[in-house]
Amino acid sequence: MNSFTDAALPATDSTATTKEAPDLDAQLAKFTGTVGNVRVDNAKMSMTGVDVHYGDAQAIHNVDLDLGKNEVMAMIGPSGCGKSTFLRCLNRMNDTIESCKVAGSLTLDGEDIYERNQDVVLLRARVGIVFQKPNPFPKSIYDNVAYGPRIHGLAASKSELDDIVEQSLKRASLWSEVADRLDNPGTGLSGGQQQRLCIARTIAVSPEVILMDEPCSALDPIATAKIEELIDELGKNYTIAIVTHSMQQAARVSDRTAYFHLGRLVEVGVTNDIFTNPTHQLTENYITGRFG
Ligand SMILES: Nc1ncnc2c1ncn2[C@@H]1O[C@H](COP(=O)(O)OP(=O)(O)OP(=O)(O)O)[C@@H](O)[C@H]1O
Ligand SMILES: [Mg+2]
Repeated sequence: MNSFTDAALPATDSTATTKEAPDLDAQLAKFTGTVGNVRVDNAKMSMTGVDVHYGDAQAIHNVDLDLGKNEVMAMIGPSGCGKSTFLRCLNRMNDTIESCKVAGSLTLDGEDIYERNQDVVLLRARVGIVFQKPNPFPKSIYDNVAYGPRIHGLAASKSELDDIVEQSLKRASLWSEVADRLDNPGTGLSGGQQQRLCIARTIAVSPEVILMDEPCSALDPIATAKIEELIDELGKNYTIAIVTHSMQQAARVSDRTAYFHLGRLVEVGVTNDIFTNPTHQLTENYITGRFG
């Protein structure tokens, strides 16, 4: 967690209200390679030359990026720039999309996650993901959270499993609202509660890396603050990559920030620097609200 505060965010540019239609060619002409240091000394995941296509359309172009151990990385950028696509590459979630082809090198602790013998179920336990839209299983609240620990054999007894479920729900700030109805269906919860259930389900298997794609967009400010506290706590021991449209959230929770634009990784840097003194003009335009 850095010490950056909302007050330090640059004032939104007055032109923000009269957004110009972006000239894509002109914007791309300004991109000559990622600005900033994409590598870290203690990488948990390391990506090199990542290209992603959906059919003939290329969504990600030649992205290099490391995610450090015990680091929270925010991924920001205009809608459609490829944030979710890139995030989904990191635990092979894109495998589930027929037309999607991922190329390049992506490693976890130095090992290629796209290697043919990779156990994808195990990979997704080690690299968990929380989506923007909550997707609880059609099972009870308890069974949603217990699902991962059960299939990965993480609990030796019923009481151990009970304990994992309780701790996970507490860390996701849901326990007090569901403790007396763990047998009710997860799908019967409110949208914000479902999202916290999905977060509990993800952390129940103690993933080493947690990917979050706009995890708070369905949450009220109180639940959002609690999830940000959780990110802060988890970031001390785990690697977290969070996609967010809230620059205040990126500033609050992340150590480094990556700015994506039209499928390119434009700039990476320490979050404080990105928001107060961005190097690339495209980054500056975005954070000052000029377009995107
Ligand atoms: N399943 C899919 N099939 C085909 N094209 C896709 C698919 N998912 C995304 N795309 C395309 O890939 C590009 C990047 O999309 P992506 O969803 O990664 O953007 P994003 O940065 O996450 O946007 P948002 O902020 O709106 O969530 C877009 O042009 C999008 O239309
Ligand atoms: Mg997205």
